[in-house]
Amino acid sequence: MRVTMIGTGYVGLVSGVCFADFGHEVVCVDKDPAKIDVLNNGGVPIFEPGLAELVEKNMHAKHLTFTTETEEAVKSADAVFIAVGTPSRRGDGHADLSYVYAAAEEIANYMDGYTVIVTKSTVPVGTGDEVEAIIAKARPDLQPGRDFDVVSNPEFLREGAAITDFKRPDRVVVGTDSEAARTVMRGLYRPLFINETPIVFTNRRTSELIKYAGNAFLATKITFINEMADLCEKLGANVQEVSRGIGLDGRIGKKFLHAGPGYGGSCFPKDTLAVVRTAQEAGAPLKIIEAVVAVNDARKEKMADKVIEGVGGNVKGKTIAVLGLAFKPNTDDMRESPAIAIINKLSAAGANIRAYDPEAMSEAKHQLPDIAYCTNSYECIDGADALVIITEWDQFRALDFARVKSMMVEPVLIDLRNIYNPIRMAEQGFTYISVGRPD
Ligand SMILES: NC(=O)c1ccc[n+]([C@@H]2O[C@H](COP(=O)([O-])OP(=O)(O)OC[C@H]3O[C@@H](n4cnc5c(N)ncnc54)[C@H](O)[C@@H]3O)[C@@H](O)[C@H]2O)c1
Repeated sequence: MRVTMIGTGYVGLVSGVCFADFGHEVVCVDKDPAKIDVLNNGGVPIFEPGLAELVEKNMHAKHLTFTTETEEAVKSADAVFIAVGTPSRRGDGHADLSYVYAAAEEIANYMDGYTVIVTKSTVPVGTGDEVEAIIAKARPDLQPGRDFDVVSNPEFLREGAAITDFKRPDRVVVGTDSEAARTVMRGLYRPLFINETPIVFTNRRTSELIKYAGNAFLATKITFINEMADLCEKLGANVQEVSRGIGLDGRIGKKFLHAGPGYGGSCFPKDTLAVVRTAQEAGAPLKIIEAVVAVNDARKEKMADKVIEGVGGNVKGKTIAVLGLAFKPNTDDMRESPAIAIINKLSAAGANIRAYDPEAMSEAKHQLPDIAYCTNSYECIDGADALVIITEWDQFRALDFARVKSMMVEPVLIDLRNIYNPIRMAEQGFTYISVGRPD
């Protein structure tokens, strides 16, 4: 089938490449010419494990092309995906749908023959109705249900494991009442049907809400264990053992129960906020999620306070080494990373920050322009008064602590991801502070 992806960011690029790998003919469109240039020259503009190889393979097989020209790409497509950003709207926390609506208008201008327009962006309930209305208004010659259908197909991939998540998902959700559109969607995801991946067919509004409900639930799980970690600190209990103790219960499950500096990233912060606003306007407030948003916001500040306490209550003039800036390992994505709020607070308190991240430093430089960037962990640690681990990249899990200690002014380690063992660290002579575990 012929697939067009409007928006070639984390989701559009991964989805486009994976559809090409399923054997479809895919054109990825982006309005950012720099991104398309990089791709057409054999590069990949984001860091995502395994992506570069898959792009190369499918470009070589001529299943996959990249362009800035929407017209040609849309004209010939059986399905056009909208995979543009839906950031928080400034001021009110609603999802900003201007990119989605602009994409819908562009698609309308060029559609030719029955076309399925698929919203892959995370969008509030009712956006599919609005996309349909925009297309119908722009093209009075076309009739919804006959000449085109608008389908919701939210994406659940995780950055850092995006390709596996796309090709072996827990489920695929498809929201439409149109049988013709379902047939197209079945064709697109055929390899997953063969794998017996559960495909949830539902109506469009339910599908749109499933995505928000999923993210809100996961954000709640993270926030729950983070608050439990605070309680553990007060009571002398160990949050990792609490997580294990409850996570082994099949009704609870082990995932998303790692205490840390609070959730960040391109999805949870904006999606929790957006669903809170939607629910308030609908007259069915989600009070649990409102609390989750507030607790998570406060948590990042609290983590900076933990660092300040760790160095004796004052960071003025102190050098703090930070390992890990991306909102999680295996991505270069800095959107809403807890590192930003933590570092900003430490800098405001007078600390000199030196940082290292294996992939996210060029992105980080836009958001944190005034800190020093290092080329590896040890350069970062050299001469520091304290070391803070914010993101748990594998390469930070096996530091040579004899070397680290010899390089630091004071052997103070604040481990916001609990990747080291408190007893071992004490044996190595470190003042070791972690999250929700007895010293
Ligand atoms: N990043 C994730 O892990 C993830 C996971 C699931 C769902 N989502 C959702 O997917 C959507 C996209 O997220 P993302 O992280 O890929 O965003 P992104 O910012 O990385 O990419 C969006 C891309 O769309 C392009 N674009 C915008 N308008 C365009 C237009 N009219 N024509 C062509 N290109 C256009 C932008 O230039 C940009 O490259 C969001 O709604 C997000 O919530 C993201």
